[in-house]
Amino acid sequence: MSPTLVIRPFQTPARGVAQVPGSKSITNRALILAALADGPTLFTGALFSRDTRILIAALLSLGFEVSVDEAASTIRVVGLGGRIPITRCKIHVGNAGTAARFLTAFLALAPDGCYELDGDEAMRARPMRGLLDALTLGGCRALAADGSPASGFPFTLHTTGKLGRLEVDATASSQLLSALLMVLPLTPGASVAMKGSTVSEPFVEMTARMCAQFGRVLVCGDDGAWSCPTPGAYAAQPLYAIEPDATAASYFIALPAVTGFRASVRIEGYATGGLQGDTAFAKVATACGANLKATDGTLVADSWSAVRGGDIDFNAFSDTFLTLATIATLADSPVKIRGIAHTRKQETDRVLAMATELERLGIKVAPTATALRADDTLSSLTIFPDKAALRRAASAGPILIHTYEDHRMAMSFGVLGSFDLFGDGRPWITIEDPACTGKTFPHFFRALEALRTNFIRVSVDGGAASGKSSTSRRLAQIHGLLHVDTGAHYRSLTRALLLAGASADDAASVKSALGKLRIGSRIIARQGARSSALTLDGTLPDDAELRSTEVNAAVSKIAALPSVRAFLLEYQRSQVKLASDHGFAGVVMEGRDIGSVVLPDAEVRIFLEADAEARTLRRAAEGQADQVAQRDHLDATRKTAPMICPSGAHRLDNTHKSLAEVVAEIGELIKVAALPR
Ligand code: DC
Repeated sequence: MSPTLVIRPFQTPARGVAQVPGSKSITNRALILAALADGPTLFTGALFSRDTRILIAALLSLGFEVSVDEAASTIRVVGLGGRIPITRCKIHVGNAGTAARFLTAFLALAPDGCYELDGDEAMRARPMRGLLDALTLGGCRALAADGSPASGFPFTLHTTGKLGRLEVDATASSQLLSALLMVLPLTPGASVAMKGSTVSEPFVEMTARMCAQFGRVLVCGDDGAWSCPTPGAYAAQPLYAIEPDATAASYFIALPAVTGFRASVRIEGYATGGLQGDTAFAKVATACGANLKATDGTLVADSWSAVRGGDIDFNAFSDTFLTLATIATLADSPVKIRGIAHTRKQETDRVLAMATELERLGIKVAPTATALRADDTLSSLTIFPDKAALRRAASAGPILIHTYEDHRMAMSFGVLGSFDLFGDGRPWITIEDPACTGKTFPHFFRALEALRTNFIRVSVDGGAASGKSSTSRRLAQIHGLLHVDTGAHYRSLTRALLLAGASADDAASVKSALGKLRIGSRIIARQGARSSALTLDGTLPDDAELRSTEVNAAVSKIAALPSVRAFLLEYQRSQVKLASDHGFAGVVMEGRDIGSVVLPDAEVRIFLEADAEARTLRRAAEGQADQVAQRDHLDATRKTAPMICPSGAHRLDNTHKSLAEVVAEIGELIKVAALPR
């Protein structure tokens, strides 16, 4: 039994930098091109995964000098200009499609080679025939164990080093064509024409562009035949930066669809104009409701506005279809995914695997898994979203998702399992064989976990005009927190009590008026932040009403009354749940007794100070006549919940600091506290 992984739903928004590894497709192409270049090439940002290790191991066993530094994500390959030192050996390609195809064509360059090649059970069933037939046409012989022409693994490849004019049937996989394209410049006079069309065209484009980056331009003539007008060895690259994997990035584009509306995930080095066709997923995601912003090579994926249904052709970037297929279960209408017939012959039959597992979750799909099993030409999948069905299916506990040794199945369902289906953090998806992500993304589940933030409670206490509100609002805005101004609570209450005829000097009148007030909350957007405001009998006074001369004069006296403090304490504590229920990353609450009484166990506690002169000037600049010192005295000397610097609080004097400096200083404390525990 392979181990399993229970996915813990995200109860707070996903935030932070996604640790996306280098592209598998680029790394494996780059390894081949570097080996065929005329000297050493150094790669940065390289991927170390099962598939790239297979190719590196094969190059080593063929006599190439390859050195890796995993910690630095670099690989150095010394190219031999088309020469392959070892001409007789056995190579096992596992289930690595790129390694299998690229190596087979690469080996054909050996003038008198004899290579025994094999792959895993799954690889034996994957398309190779088009490539073997093409190489046979060029003079190689690929023989099965019984000596007959081979159509797939295992086979023995006898090579001549010549290719000539080839024809390839790459309808099953574009890698069959890419493999031949990369060796074209090394055999003068060689050309490759395609029989029919191919799938995943952007990958062919990637191959041609990378050949050009390594100094050999390939052209596709009017007759559809590819050739290299200036053949020769590739040019070694002193430094070649491998782009982060666009397919891997798709999981982090999708994650904010399921983890609350304050999510913000940064994907660094995401190159929409780069080599990878799978960046098209960003467009599809946007059409389906994603909120993506690209600046200077960084893609920021914020919470989706919705998961919208639609009809999408994934043929050109089919590796990402699984990413959408799982979150389609949460969409507002059906999602039809077309153009994916060829994925039925990839790591597994991906369409069948997806249909089977979605049905296991209670989701209706068309065609059904049974229909797909009966007909291997079916090429689309429609997913009918149904959260209630998911809840029913998972009501007795997490459902084990089978992954069929397919890394993309594991990662896609990992994203879906991050959704808080029951709203209480209860896990509902378990992933079978999570280590299968090692094929392209060994640390996927760790990278997912790194985006989990802890719910953060920040208390900001301090005297009148010490900068609490401006600091708290800015913190709320930057860190996705709900802002709560408890000073406004006391002001609002003071105003309502005065209007009801109560007097600050008559505790009994206050107590009786309190009993008649109906208390509520409203979330409002103000000065860039979202704040929860207290309503009394449904009314929300404006700022001028809260800061009137009468309120300013009475608020500290009223706030000193134990009945008033008791009236507000539970309400203020309830704001934490309000923030969590609304998907905020936390709460920032400002006042006089937050870190000491209301939230004494807040993760971050701040006590703001500023000298008296600065504070009077600040109030005056706001056009307010406020007896700051007098209020402070009352607030600090009252019996119940006096203003103090809470124990363990970070004391911050902002007299000579800008708002940006103060916010950055507190931001560091928040970031540390928000890290997963
Ligand atoms: O922050 P502010 O100036 O708006 O607060 C108005 C008054 O409310 C303040 O003088 C004392 C009272 N208050 C309190 O007693 N406890 C709090 N947590 C917040 C405010």
